[in-house]
Amino acid sequence: MTGKHKAPIGVFDSGVGGLTVVQQLRRLLPAEDILYFGDTARAPYGGREPAEICLFMRQILQFMEERGVKLAVVACNTMTAWGLADAQGRFSFPVIGMDSGVSQALQASPGKRIGVIATAATVNSGKHERDAATLCSNAHFLGQSCPEFVPLIEQELLESSELRQAALAYLQPLRQAGTEAVILGCTHYPVIGSLLREILGAGVTLIDPAAATAQEAKRVLQEQRLEAPQRQGSLRLYVSGDPLRAQRLAAMILQDVQVEILHASMEEKEINRLEA
Ligand code: DGL
Repeated sequence: MTGKHKAPIGVFDSGVGGLTVVQQLRRLLPAEDILYFGDTARAPYGGREPAEICLFMRQILQFMEERGVKLAVVACNTMTAWGLADAQGRFSFPVIGMDSGVSQALQASPGKRIGVIATAATVNSGKHERDAATLCSNAHFLGQSCPEFVPLIEQELLESSELRQAALAYLQPLRQAGTEAVILGCTHYPVIGSLLREILGAGVTLIDPAAATAQEAKRVLQEQRLEAPQRQGSLRLYVSGDPLRAQRLAAMILQDVQVEILHASMEEKEINRLEA
């Protein structure tokens, strides 16, 4: 066995949302060291062009490669939808993306009336809709983009009337369509899960694909014999924007007051080597 199994798992997102995936990874794989990067200076990604999303993703993966990760988990649905296929095979470590949550949603919906709330880029990618059509020929699918959610969450406006008003407006079409299961198709959204649950009502099941994504990470580590030895894993967090703001959000999401955040900038990253 090489020393690679002691290397960290790299996890990343446009901002702090991917920490909802880190929480599941730590629960399932407590021995693993995790190195997290949130591109908070450039978030949100959800309104950006696919080419830019792919470029940013490659820059972050290069950062992960320089730090010797053994596996990268794309804890961002937007990058998963647009950049995963482009990134796979370009790096010396496996790269996995977010589970779509579609199969879980179909299981939770007797009438196969499912929906996804996500960034505009994710909804426009058609990924969830295609998955639904592939898995169930009579699925009723509705995709709703929620462009205001990520900026409001990143600005810590979690109790604001803007957030509530936006949520009421975004969820209205799903309520009207009688959607029975709604996928949280953006890793930021579990942070506002209680608000979404309150508006959608008890009859609607919310699906958070983070746990299934962590399961896939575990499967890949087992398959490639890369699991960490028995010990308590560490967590190292980097952001490109304001570390203090990220620290407050991270402490809330991870329920851990001891979070230390380091700064890392992506913008000067040369990616010519990866252009081919
Ligand atoms: N957490 C990211 C996702 O899952 C948010 C993307 C954004 O920055 O808009 O898509």
